[in-house]
Amino acid sequence: MIPLPVDIQYKEGEFYLNSSTCIYSTSNLSTLVKYFLELMIESIGYKLKEVNSGNNPNSINFILDDSLKNLEDEGYILEVLKETIFIKALTAKGIFYGIQSLRQLIHEELIIKIDSKEKIHTVPCLKIEDYPRFKWRGFMLDVGRHFHDIDTIKHILDLLALMKMNVFHWHLTEDQGWRIEIKKYSKLIDIGSKREDTKIKTWWSKKYRGKPHQGFYTQEDIKEIVLYAQDRFITVIPEIEMPGHCRAAIAAYPELSCQKKQKEVAIKPGIFKDIFCVGQEETFNFLKNTLNEIMELFPSDIIHIGGDEVPIKRWKKCADCKSRMKDEKIKKTKDLRNYFTKRIVDYLKSQDKKAMGWNEILYDGIDKEVIAQWWLRKKSEILNHIYNGGSIVSSHLFHVYLDYNYILIPLQKTYSFEPIPKNLHEKYHEKILGVEAPLWCEWVPNRERLEWQIFPRLAAVAEIGWTLRESKNYESFIKRLKQFNKKLDNFGVNYAPLKDVNPTKLYRILNWKNTLKWPEI
Ligand code: ACM
Ligand code: ZN
Repeated sequence: MIPLPVDIQYKEGEFYLNSSTCIYSTSNLSTLVKYFLELMIESIGYKLKEVNSGNNPNSINFILDDSLKNLEDEGYILEVLKETIFIKALTAKGIFYGIQSLRQLIHEELIIKIDSKEKIHTVPCLKIEDYPRFKWRGFMLDVGRHFHDIDTIKHILDLLALMKMNVFHWHLTEDQGWRIEIKKYSKLIDIGSKREDTKIKTWWSKKYRGKPHQGFYTQEDIKEIVLYAQDRFITVIPEIEMPGHCRAAIAAYPELSCQKKQKEVAIKPGIFKDIFCVGQEETFNFLKNTLNEIMELFPSDIIHIGGDEVPIKRWKKCADCKSRMKDEKIKKTKDLRNYFTKRIVDYLKSQDKKAMGWNEILYDGIDKEVIAQWWLRKKSEILNHIYNGGSIVSSHLFHVYLDYNYILIPLQKTYSFEPIPKNLHEKYHEKILGVEAPLWCEWVPNRERLEWQIFPRLAAVAEIGWTLRESKNYESFIKRLKQFNKKLDNFGVNYAPLKDVNPTKLYRILNWKNTLKWPEI
């Protein structure tokens, strides 16, 4: 099983899952029962029947139990006896995670009993008591660099659920494409969701794919995905990048930039100087109106506002930005960033939403409600934020960035990642909400490539997020991964095979030239 549960006690014997196994649940779990019945049709091919009373032989029972307060809102107990299976929890979410464990425990092989010719799947008898280490177990997908359709998003959400991950961070806007319909600003889609070409292979390559790229989600698509995620107890956190990484928005509305010149949606990756002008009120009006539509679409109480990699070159030369500095008594151009961040954070707060951003948004005096996503450097600033009462999510570049290949970030390195900064006093540990693995898609044009980058490293991230630190064990993980990969085979996932995910030192040295290269598949 991945992630490894807190406690497993194996018992003698097996439960026989067959076509007459029935499902019973206490009240309010009908959506989960429906979900489970569909899963069983897909995995074992039977439509199990639901019954209205408990204590049946050959039954699977979902039981909400108010006395299980110690399991909190995500924990569960899974008990497999020879005649009955019980999943018990305080909440439906706990039951959902019990179901995910049960799915992984059902043996793939069909057994045909000689005496009765009955076809059965077996589940080993055991008792699991389980709850997560961290409350934030996330995956981020960048759909700006390459668009991925809603079927792919749903497929990812299914896989996140299987691994008990609960945050899908959707990076929706980039220099290379704006991907979400905003009704008030139609040019974001008409212009911002299309680009002429795409650089391929690697950062310094001179090769282009030689064809346009485009794609966006309608607001109806977004609603569909949010509901799909909700049914899997996954929170969707939208990210609207600001004040940088917004060339696509500026291509659509050049008046939002300092120079107000027409630019094209970027066709190569990198950091672009053309960012939102902080001097003009139009920028804030645009962002507020956009965020208003975002807040309508996403029920999450956290909105990600990006904030990474902001070059201030244009601000330095802009009359509006200079006059803003004068009016606000801001001495250094770089401090315009903090002015910008504060205005957006305050606006979201006025709408009862919390802002989250990449760690560059931090500054002395930032609202402690802001969640910082720690990806690179600035450990002292991160610690400062924590000491001041702020929270963080750990996404360290050289451990959990899934866009690099396995030469640079082998599976074992990802598995070794510890989200809590070294030597941080225990009283602050609760401020580390958890772990999140980003997949930036500069070199990820399709689902095959995406799955190859994600798996198996995302399974390691799931275990970092869920499993107790003292129970983590790489050898045990690899053993379980072999079983887990069989489940992934059922979903047709193009994971990187185990032989390729931990290249030897010699291989890494001999292939260092390929460290930052991505074959197109
Ligand atoms: C980042 O990788 N630029 C957050
Ligand atoms: Zn400006």
